[in-house]
Amino acid sequence: MNNLTNFPLLVGGEVHNSSSSSPAYMDTQVWDRMVALDCQVVLTPVSWQLIEPMEGQFDFTTLEALLDGGRKRGIQVIPLWFGAYKNTWSSYAPDWVKRCQRRFLRAELEPGRPSGQLSVFCPEVLRADAAAFAAVMRKIAQIDPDRSVVPAVQVENEVGILCAAARDQSKTADQVWASPVPAELLAHLAEHHTMLHPTIRNLWESRNAAAQGTWPEVFGDSLEAREVFMAWHFAKFVGSVAAAGKAEHDLPMFANAWTVQAPGDPPGRYPSGGPVAHVIDIWQAAAPGLPLAADVYSNEFEVVAGEYAAANAAYGLPLLLPELRGDVAVAAKAYAAIARLGVRLFTPFAIDSLPIPSDPNAARPDAAMPPANPVAEVGPYVPATPAATALLAGTYRALRGLAAILPAAHAQGRLAAITQSRTTPTGVDLELGGWRMQVKFPRPLSATEPPAAGLVLLRESSDAHTAAIEVVGYGFELAMVRPKTGEPGPDIEWLAIVEGAYDPTGNWVAGRNLNGDELGIRLPADVVSVRRARMHRIG
Ligand code: DGJ
Repeated sequence: MNNLTNFPLLVGGEVHNSSSSSPAYMDTQVWDRMVALDCQVVLTPVSWQLIEPMEGQFDFTTLEALLDGGRKRGIQVIPLWFGAYKNTWSSYAPDWVKRCQRRFLRAELEPGRPSGQLSVFCPEVLRADAAAFAAVMRKIAQIDPDRSVVPAVQVENEVGILCAAARDQSKTADQVWASPVPAELLAHLAEHHTMLHPTIRNLWESRNAAAQGTWPEVFGDSLEAREVFMAWHFAKFVGSVAAAGKAEHDLPMFANAWTVQAPGDPPGRYPSGGPVAHVIDIWQAAAPGLPLAADVYSNEFEVVAGEYAAANAAYGLPLLLPELRGDVAVAAKAYAAIARLGVRLFTPFAIDSLPIPSDPNAARPDAAMPPANPVAEVGPYVPATPAATALLAGTYRALRGLAAILPAAHAQGRLAAITQSRTTPTGVDLELGGWRMQVKFPRPLSATEPPAAGLVLLRESSDAHTAAIEVVGYGFELAMVRPKTGEPGPDIEWLAIVEGAYDPTGNWVAGRNLNGDELGIRLPADVVSVRRARMHRIG
């Protein structure tokens, strides 16, 4: 379905849910901030309610304004299709959908009580949503035929069902539950048996890897079995909407997950059936090639993002992070995601609320509002300060010159992340292509200040005797590890260390050649710096 192998690395942010509903608001409150932060891409909602206020009558004002706003500023736009589902609910469905409940059925979280969620088992919901999305994609194809503004699209938002039973309790859903598991799904499980995620493999094997039967016969009636049932149907729904859009304009698309908030949480406490990492096999069977992107609000950012990196990688798909917390460590997360996990999309949520460095006192009104989705805001965290935002912007600026080469460098093992954390508070040892480096963090780790972070890129020109590296980041010193006196092995000396920066178009602008008293790689803590260095082994 997707050609994501060559998907570029894009960094920027996702705006608040309502920002893009008003072109004037975007113009006065948002776009300039995106420019100030050096965002290369902005993920912005496109609302079904506003796009199709009356059935079959489309109003593309907000979509056109978005693409126009991005094009004028050289910022790419990833539309987020708020169709039938937004955080499981259907608040973005147009009135004519919401008000016709006999035609557009509702999910039931308790038997006999229709909810605010449209039914994923209702063909009319799918038909109407897919038709609207197809119209959106047709419009994007007209406005942006060369794909210079819109590189990808997110289809729906955090689908799944939040209820203790972990599945829709309606009679319609009961009927489907009692019907045979599609042969397509069972064939996929059989074909991928040895590589299945352990959750799916264990569940299926616990019922003797049945090759046919109803849902409860094949998977049982546990909450996990119900999650598989819902995952298949949500994936079929989202996959079908995506396919209708791709038929008009074949852009890369992805689905995003409200992730499991605490290990051991049962499905239903997080949206059951949503594109979480442990049901990737079900989603790939139903919607092949659609990556499971992760909204990571957990304090265990790297652990959770890593689960999605691994799950997607098993199907040859990249890691995408359309949402994460814009907290004091946000820049460090960028380096971890890019250099350790190979992420291709990094867009912290509520980017339009980050305190931009040039305007530190301008608190955004919505920054202080409680999150619409409190479950997604797990654990205490320190919001980004102007200093933290400046580091994110500096990182994005450096990436203008580097983003194009980093995915390949990651795949080839030529990239290392540097992150100061509880497990590495004072420093970290690295090894790239046989070259060993020692990184020290002069400033102590603090909960309220950005942790030191960066990356090291080993250039392709490196060999066993000489190496060229590029070092980006802040708050650390980096030294090559040399043998101690008396130890065997060649010593290492710097040939050159050049400071510099990338201009807005990504061109390298060299500064001082650091030698003599300045020889060494020492990056200050309050600004993102770039060094290009060459070294060789002596003797
Ligand atoms: C996750 C959702 O996907 C976003 O649209 C937004 O509601 C955030 N949660 C708020 O924390």
